[in-house]
Amino acid sequence: METGSRAPPRYDGPLMITAVVSKKGGVGKTTTSVNLAAALAGIGKRVLLLDLDSQASASLSLGVPRSSLAPSTADIILRHASVEALVRETRIPGLHIIPASADLSTADQTLGMVSGRELILHRALAPIKPLFDFILLDCPSSLSLVPVNALMASDTFLVPVVPHFLAWEGVSNLVSTVSRLYERLGRRTDLLGIVLTMVDYRTKAARTNVDAIRGKYRDHVFAIEIRTNTRLAEAPGNGQTIFEYDAAATGARAYRLLAAEVLIRASARHRMAPYAVAGDDDEPSPPDQPDEGTGAVAPPRFWGAGGGVR
Ligand SMILES: Nc1ncnc2c1ncn2[C@@H]1O[C@H](COP(=O)(O)OP(=O)(O)OP(=O)(O)O)[C@@H](O)[C@H]1O
Ligand SMILES: [Mg+2]
Repeated sequence: METGSRAPPRYDGPLMITAVVSKKGGVGKTTTSVNLAAALAGIGKRVLLLDLDSQASASLSLGVPRSSLAPSTADIILRHASVEALVRETRIPGLHIIPASADLSTADQTLGMVSGRELILHRALAPIKPLFDFILLDCPSSLSLVPVNALMASDTFLVPVVPHFLAWEGVSNLVSTVSRLYERLGRRTDLLGIVLTMVDYRTKAARTNVDAIRGKYRDHVFAIEIRTNTRLAEAPGNGQTIFEYDAAATGARAYRLLAAEVLIRASARHRMAPYAVAGDDDEPSPPDQPDEGTGAVAPPRFWGAGGGVR
């Protein structure tokens, strides 16, 4: 796979698990999960992509035949299968996948009020953590039990946003949900960043909406923007990543640059709070005590110079 001639930024920190998540559908979660995972593998990282969407788009995009989706992430969440046995290699050196299957959509009903149901994935991933540098979780468009499991299993979350009118409202809701999960379950997940996707400056409103999102979320927004590129939309139909389908496409370049920025953010996160990322695979600890005087519970940390996201 072509990965560009310049040396990528170094990241030799510990494993980072990242949920690619948004309540909104069709914003580029799967496109970003697949191509970011492939780009990270292309620069020598050991990467696992966990497909958590019952539609299995990420699995199909990577060429897993529909008839071979099982065993899948549904076996981990619904049937407590051991994760090691489910990890599959892909054609791309360094990139592994656990596919999704349709029965994942039954998780909310099947697990009902089972105690600890939000932490099933967090616990299940522990044995494979030493095997990878990055684990990416492609989530369905909801905040039901499966994406909640993804968030609780992750160190960080990445939110693709299409710069449409009021698109940031979805981000604020997501950040509030993550804060509430932290208060309830004691698992801290940090915003790795907001990725602007399907940016099309030929439309009149694009610049206004991009500026509004950058103005509101400042350094939390990745510098690289993923422009609309038909090659990115065509690649999954061939069961290929953009690097296999058309390595010279602008979409391929964009995802290579996004991978470089992810490495920089991962390094910054590791440097700024090594205590938060080392040995973090134990049972969750209770949330911080309320600050004296304010009565407030410490919110999750967000990376970048811009301070908290509200
Ligand atoms: N930068 C892009 N340029 C052109 N098309 C794109 C781009 N990114 C994604 N697409 C296309 O837009 C559609 C939605 O993208 P994708 O499936 O990645 O979104 P999603 O958030 O995972 O959707 P869902 O909520 O259904 O899981 C797909 O057809 C995809 O090929
Ligand atoms: Mg998807």
